[in-house]
Amino acid sequence: MTLAGRRILLVIAGGIAAYKSLDLIRRLRERGATVRCALTEGGAHFVTPMSLAALSEQPVFEDLFSLTDDHGMSHIRASRESDLLLVAPATANLIAKMAHGLADDLASTLLLASDKPILVAPSMNVVMWRHPATQANLAILRSRGVLQVGPGTGELACGEEGSGRLAEVMDIVAAVETALANAGPGATKPLAGRRALVTSGPTYEPIDPVRFIGNRSSGRQGHAIAGALARLGADVTLVSGPVALPDPDGVTVVRIETAAEMLAACQAALPADVAVCAAAVADWRVTAPARQKTRKVEGAPPPTLTLTQNPDILATLSAPGPARPARVGGFAAETHDLVDHAKAKLARKGCDLILANDVSESSGTFGGDANQVVLVSATGIEEWPRLSKTEVASRLADRIAARLAGGPA
Ligand code: C5P
Repeated sequence: MTLAGRRILLVIAGGIAAYKSLDLIRRLRERGATVRCALTEGGAHFVTPMSLAALSEQPVFEDLFSLTDDHGMSHIRASRESDLLLVAPATANLIAKMAHGLADDLASTLLLASDKPILVAPSMNVVMWRHPATQANLAILRSRGVLQVGPGTGELACGEEGSGRLAEVMDIVAAVETALANAGPGATKPLAGRRALVTSGPTYEPIDPVRFIGNRSSGRQGHAIAGALARLGADVTLVSGPVALPDPDGVTVVRIETAAEMLAACQAALPADVAVCAAAVADWRVTAPARQKTRKVEGAPPPTLTLTQNPDILATLSAPGPARPARVGGFAAETHDLVDHAKAKLARKGCDLILANDVSESSGTFGGDANQVVLVSATGIEEWPRLSKTEVASRLADRIAARLAGGPA
């Protein structure tokens, strides 16, 4: 691959591995890239602006409040005019600032002002790397589409052994090439040209015009899945019950209330290559909802609700036929015997995969940010670690893309 004509903004933070950025600039330039460097205050303790300027043959950005050129705005332009922002080394501190949107120096401002792909190459001490704060910050970045290369494992500058070494320079170059191949005009996203249907949220089943039967589903997992599929290039229709969430970017949202409306909206969205049913559909609806508000009459017995079973949307979409999506997935919310219940559900619903999640009270899954799932499909059982709902969504989207491309999973 070549990087001819590509403009890379290399952000160098304050870690011992900063010296490797000198070699990185040479390797990127050998492949035809133009490299401009931005140095944090910490980074300047390890490499000098002079070396960076000499190797890149470009001025180096250092000071946010420099008024020497363009009234201090050239860094914003540099960020916009780049094809990719590469952060190498990315320290725990800079990763934390990126995750939380801080812009208190030039490097963090460039990164916040950018609408271009960002690739981070973390480098730090093993304990800092393993710290839950660092891992959580990286998870936030990944959920926003920030790409990551490394770190590697081995002897660290501090004398300790373990993860945290900056990825090898040539691995960083390869990651830059891949990132640029997948971004911008002409890029091929793995789900480009594919249609996806996702259900999310609860359904509300009316008792009368003001009352309903509902449930506590937040819709977070389903919305995250819709967003993740869209990021991989799919044309996504999200059929959602009432939720208090913003619409995911780049997704067509169809709002419904009842299970019957959800089914109709799903059928209207077909054909699709993939369907993921993450909605918590009410199992029953009131057979004959009152047309007017049912009044409470003192002394009279409370009304009795007669219920009818709702259609099973996942089973309906999974039924064999010309309109069946190639890949249909659903969820199994269980409090015990996760895998056995998931296998039984896979067979009963006729779908291709079930994500079984633990919704026992101690798990915090319902309404929470994290989810622990087991993926059950015809090809096997895979236990995923505890992940944010966004990460579960990204993994699932990657699996679906790999499968549609003809791979296993
Ligand atoms: O049958 P159960 O509710 O346990 O199955 C859960 C899975 O089935 C979820 O993926 C849910 O979205 C889907 N489902 C559905 N329509 C229903 C009930 C469940 O799509 N009526």
